[in-house]
Formats: sequence, C-alpha cells, structure tokens
Amino acid sequence: MSRLTRDLSAALPTLTKLVFSQPVDRTEAQKVSVRPVFGRGGRSFQAELLRGDKAFHENLAEDALPAYVRDNLDGRYRQVLLVSEEGSSQYVLRQNGDYKKTGSGAGVPRPGEGHDRGKTYILREGEAIPALVDLGVFTADYRIVKARYEKYRQINRFVELVDQAFAGSTRRDITILDFGCGKSYLTFILYYYFAVKRGLAVKIIGYDLKEDVVEHCNAIARKYGYDGLRFVHADVSRDALYDEKVDMVVSLHACDTATDYALHYAISKGAEYIFSVPCCQHEINSSIRRGGELDIFLRHGIVKERMAALLTDSIRTLILEDMGYSVDVIEFTDFSDSPKNLMLRAKKTGKRSTRGREQAAALAAQYGFTQTLLRLCAEGE
Ligand SMILES: C[S@@+](CC[C@H](N)C(=O)[O-])C[C@H]1O[C@@H](n2cnc3c(N)ncnc32)[C@H](O)[C@@H]1O
Repeated sequence: MSRLTRDLSAALPTLTKLVFSQPVDRTEAQKVSVRPVFGRGGRSFQAELLRGDKAFHENLAEDALPAYVRDNLDGRYRQVLLVSEEGSSQYVLRQNGDYKKTGSGAGVPRPGEGHDRGKTYILREGEAIPALVDLGVFTADYRIVKARYEKYRQINRFVELVDQAFAGSTRRDITILDFGCGKSYLTFILYYYFAVKRGLAVKIIGYDLKEDVVEHCNAIARKYGYDGLRFVHADVSRDALYDEKVDMVVSLHACDTATDYALHYAISKGAEYIFSVPCCQHEINSSIRRGGELDIFLRHGIVKERMAALLTDSIRTLILEDMGYSVDVIEFTDFSDSPKNLMLRAKKTGKRSTRGREQAAALAAQYGFTQTLLRLCAEGE
C-alpha cells in the first residue's frame, strides 16, 4: 500500500478535499478533485475529472474511495493535496512511484462547523435568492447545499470585498463585465447584490467559452426577470466584447491568460473597479528560462510553479499601477480551501507611469518568459 493510500484511509472519516494535479501521462485528466457530498443516503464522494474545458463527474460510495484512488490515481499525478478536518498535507510523486509528503497545514472544518459557525455573511442562508436554487447552491427552502458550501463561502467573500470598496458610494447605476463566468454563481450574486440589495440600475454581461453553460445561465436570468443580466458565448482573447462604458470588470478563476485579457480590457475601457482572482498561471512557468538570480527558484518544479504564479500576479499588479490604478493584493480564501487564493482589487486613480512595465519587460527579456498583459500593453503603445 502506498503512503498516499495509507494516509487517505486514515483521513477518510473527516476528509474534506483531495486534489490530484500534474498528470504524469498527458492522456489522463488534467486534474481530479474529490469532495464529500451529503445526501439522503449519508456521506459519499464525488470525483470531478477535468479534461480540456469539460468537467466529468463520478460518484463514489464512502468506502469505495481508497480503492478508486489506488486503481485510478495513485502514482499517476505528480502533486496531491489531501485535506481533512484534522489537517492538510501536500505530496509529490518520487522517482520510485511513491509519494513524499512535502508540506502540511491546518485542517478544514466540515461545512457549517468550526470557524465559520456564526459568521455573518452578506448573503445569508435563508435569504430568498431563487437563482441560487437553480444554480444548486441553495435548496428549495434557501438552505446551503452542503456540497456547495465552499462555493457559497467564496462568492460571499467576493461580495464582501466588493461591498467594502463601495462603502459610501452614491452611484445609481453600474455596468459590469465578468470574464470566464462559467456556471456564473458570482455573476448572479453580483447582480443580486447591486440590483436587489443596493437598488442600482445594473447591467452585467458574463462571458464564457462554454456555449451550453451560457445558454443555461441566460435561461435562469430570463426566468427571474433579471433584465440587466445576460451571458454571451465568447472567447475573451479574441472576440469583440461590449464596447460601451464599463464601470467594473471581474474575473474569478478565469483560466491562465483569460485573466490578462480581463485586466487589459478593463484598462482599455478605463473601468473604475477591477476585482480579479487569477488561477492556473501557466504562461511564465512554461516559458521562463535560467538567466540570473531568480534561477534558484527554477530548480524544483513546485517551487518554480509557485514562484511563476507569484511573479505573474506581481507583474499584473505593476502594470495595473502603471496604467493608473491603486491595487490591493488580498487573501481571498484560506490557502487550504484553494491555493488560488489571491485577489487583485484595483481602483482607478488615473496616475500613470511606465516604471513598472519597464521593470517587468527587463525581467521578461532576462529570463526569456512571455506574459500576456505585458505584451498586450506593449502592443497598445
Ligand atoms: C475555473 S472556471 C471559473 C468559472 C467561474 N468564474 C467561477 O469561479 O465559478 C473558468 C472559466 O473560464 C472560462 N474561460 C477560459 N478561457 C476563456 C476565454 N478565453 N474566453 C472566455 N471564457 C474563458 C472557462 O470556460 C471556464 O468556464
């Protein structure tokens, strides 16, 4: 029995998350995430397999998970994250096919327990937000679907950060673009927050590559008479987007460089607010070469990947500042919930500079990497 299967069996009773990433063989799913689901029959697990831009799901009885992992995943992925209520552990695959534990951290309580108990959310459980029922986040009586608790927490946190930025605002209308809206939990919630809670005249457009998801979201928006909310099937890296005045641009885990297109569009439209939670920052990681003092970060895959992600977001921040924005980099969720946990929150100031871009361009030349926001801004000059 491998170390991972052993640790998994021990953590099984309180397991909250298990994630396999970086497949050894490219034909495997890029990522497999397993989470507990709580139904009438009690606790079971759902595995989500990400292949291209599609997600496939497999449901597993609680006691079937160790065998499923042993037969399908163990030894086939370079990185594993295992989270239970007792603690979280990270593993990397070694040459001999077994896993080495490389890090550990605090546990994550079960939905509705632990440090979240009693927290007052802006969007409270029990609040009648019917679109959230259609999206599977709330039950018909507006209770949180346990399996969607993390998503509920994320969108609440997002709205909380938006709410802080709008404290004292007297604006009466707002136009928002959401890049890579996916199933659009956030997009619906932003609409609800601005239109229902704040009473603004709201226009929101969510863009996504997935046509079926876009159609589904448009149907829900129509069903609830959310006239100002619509979804458009588009590739944000090349299609023409909304060309009138834009006040705010958001992106939540828009894949890789889709975040750069969101930031660039926001800058080019002079949007007043930007809220962006990046993810899968692959671009620098796959293009950076040795070239100087940063080489010490390039010796180990995991360190390189994390450094490249932080470098990506640091460059984005520098560019936003150059282009006339003040930027906060905020911890969006607990690292143990998701390693994609930084938000770039920017507000337009209009004070422009070129220093940040020069610094970033010098680094890109020295280490041979490409960075889409840097390139887009250079092309626009
Ligand atoms: C990880 S999902 C996040 C979805 C949603 N924002 C959320 O947090 O629930 C990323 C989404 O970005 C979309 N996406 C990626 N690249 C895109 C592009 N170039 N244009 C439009 N959508 C894109 C994907 O189709 C996917 O639905």
